[in-house]
Amino acid sequence: MRLPGAPEVAYRGDSLHLEDLSVSELARRFGTPLYAYSTASMERALSAYRRALVGRDHLICYAVKANSNLAVLQWFARQGCGFDIVSGGELERVLAAGGDAARVVFSGVGKTRAEMAQALAAGVLCFNVESVGELEALSAVAGASGRSARVSLRINPDVDAKTHPYISTGLRGNKFGIAHTEALAAFRHAAEQPGIEVAGIDCHIGSQITESSPYVEALDRLLDLIETLEAEGIAIPHLDLGGGLGIAYDTETPPDAEELIRRLLERIDARGHGGRKLLFEPGRSLVGNAGVLVSEVIYVKPGESKNFCIVDAAMNDLARPAMYGAWMRIVECERGQGEPQVFDVVGPICESGDWLGRDRALAVRPGAHVAILSAGAYAMSMSSNYNTRGRAAEVLVSGDQAWLVRERETTADQIRGEHLLPGR
Ligand code: LLP
Repeated sequence: MRLPGAPEVAYRGDSLHLEDLSVSELARRFGTPLYAYSTASMERALSAYRRALVGRDHLICYAVKANSNLAVLQWFARQGCGFDIVSGGELERVLAAGGDAARVVFSGVGKTRAEMAQALAAGVLCFNVESVGELEALSAVAGASGRSARVSLRINPDVDAKTHPYISTGLRGNKFGIAHTEALAAFRHAAEQPGIEVAGIDCHIGSQITESSPYVEALDRLLDLIETLEAEGIAIPHLDLGGGLGIAYDTETPPDAEELIRRLLERIDARGHGGRKLLFEPGRSLVGNAGVLVSEVIYVKPGESKNFCIVDAAMNDLARPAMYGAWMRIVECERGQGEPQVFDVVGPICESGDWLGRDRALAVRPGAHVAILSAGAYAMSMSSNYNTRGRAAEVLVSGDQAWLVRERETTADQIRGEHLLPGR
């Protein structure tokens, strides 16, 4: 059986492997639920972007929110990547992981003044500003600290990314960006604000996008704006096309990053913008297929209309199925353990929404391990402590080596910072 996603996650004989390590061995060694990520897969994904961008002035800013483990960030920093952040907390993570603030773009619709001051002091490359109100606040914060803020305005190009409504961000009705119809006025305003230096223009139209055409449409809108602005004497040094490229969870066939970027570059060159600095903010397409969530089967519960396979991972560990109805492949870590049965794979949390997969054929019994594939992005980073469940451990794998990069969270970790009332 050919698994979707990364070739680094494959069966060797009947044992699922992540690179050269057996996934059930990892489960025994580090316990479950366990997130494990393949560095070779990350490297393969990053090099597809790199190949397409050879010879171009560019910066790949890994979107921290997809997977913000420090070791993952450190790995991207060592590859020379920049980062796309959306909070002061993510900035601290990047710095703690050895990332370079001068390669950081700061996105998000609700940056606070405190976060602006923190990012200015750190010396971030650019603020991706999403409203005129934010622009004015940033000008004030920059003025108060005697610094100048480099900004890009995030444009909402009103294109349909053809993805899940919760992760579509470039339509008129979304909260993101400045409407492209108001962009010229916003840039003129930015160019006059004290403490503001216009550094670029950006957009991000959604996530898990599986076609190139919405990107080309957005690109055209941004190039139209650049041409008008530059004709007026407002220089737009860089063009940031955001992230959003999808991955195969199942039978999706998104373009390869290399193919997508080549298609965008053709358009950029054809319109005479070949020399412009290019930024991208990929998250999922760099780490999504690199990760698996490994879980142990606790009980197998036959039911009248459904059989349930109750595992030790739950919606607090992996929210995507409960939150978006996302389909993620679930496989046995050891194959050939009897006849498959059809199960709903569910966690121990007290909610019917706590499911990881529905109607899945699996040959499993209690004590067996299953792996949820393509769980490298928006998985651990969206986990919570619901039901006072400690968050999973994480390991990074390279060849036959595995490093524990996050310890399993204890209850003591969870209640640290909580206080009982005084008296009795
Ligand atoms: N840049 C900006 C401004 C973003 O908002 C995002 C993601 C990215 C870059 C990275 O996008 P990517 O390349 O990873 O698609 N939790 C959802 C996905 C939310 C995406 C939010 N923004 C999920 O699990 O599908």
